[in-house]
Amino acid sequence: MTTPVTTHATHRHYLMCRPTYFAVEYTINPWMDPTRPVDRDLAIAQWDNLRQTYQRLGHTVDTIEPLPGLPDMVFAANGATVIDGRALAVQFREPQRADEAPAYRGWLERAGFDVHDAKHINEGEGDLLLVGDYVLAGTGFRTSHSEHAHVQEVFGRPVVTLQLVDPCFYHLDTALAVIDERTIAYLPEAFSPGSQAVLRRLFPDAIHATWADAAAFGLNAVSDGRHVVLPVQAEALTAALRERGYQPVGVDLSELRKAGGGPKCCTLELRGARR
Ligand code: ARG
Repeated sequence: MTTPVTTHATHRHYLMCRPTYFAVEYTINPWMDPTRPVDRDLAIAQWDNLRQTYQRLGHTVDTIEPLPGLPDMVFAANGATVIDGRALAVQFREPQRADEAPAYRGWLERAGFDVHDAKHINEGEGDLLLVGDYVLAGTGFRTSHSEHAHVQEVFGRPVVTLQLVDPCFYHLDTALAVIDERTIAYLPEAFSPGSQAVLRRLFPDAIHATWADAAAFGLNAVSDGRHVVLPVQAEALTAALRERGYQPVGVDLSELRKAGGGPKCCTLELRGARR
């Protein structure tokens, strides 16, 4: 039993995209089955509840206009990486999502961010997670390893490469959650043996999630340092967070999960944004 720590929340600024044109029309990850019906109205209601949850917690939420023909645009985390007011634009691996990149880039530019272009495949916060001073960077399925060096150059922060090995957890943010500046939760078997050793060395006190938590997209969580917004279905992880002194806030995103996404996928943090 770990002693609970005193946790504290800090104000966050998020960018989200309403799932107005959400659908599962193609398969680019193992969760997507175009033959299975999707209830778009329910997806919109669930997304709206997520947005209101952030607002209730005191955070600022901006929205970007959704575009027809881009059913995955709701997954704003893949739109960029924003740290210290500097934004790194994205370059999608899959052609079906390519047109989302300039849409997010344009929004960030108009909002006054200093925008840099990606040099290689880069799926934004899906694979690039800031924890304290470091950027944890996933590769293996989407973001290319060669982009990690560019990420380090753009942000001037050490980048730690992590190799993903399970196609079900194809983005880093499906296998690892940043809870606060020193704390992460992750699914060890989603990583190569070497990357597991790196994570053990950097985060000896990390929360180890179960496969069931990860399959419920429990690691696709959004934390403000105290409140951790995660799918209600991730029961063991919810209990583990509570035991450590965090305040889990359950949301249901069952429809978006059909596209292989959860709360974090729907949320791009704008670090260094003007309030
Ligand atoms: N259908 C989307 C894809 O496969 C889901 C993206 C989920 N986003 C995330 N940050 N994990 O690209």
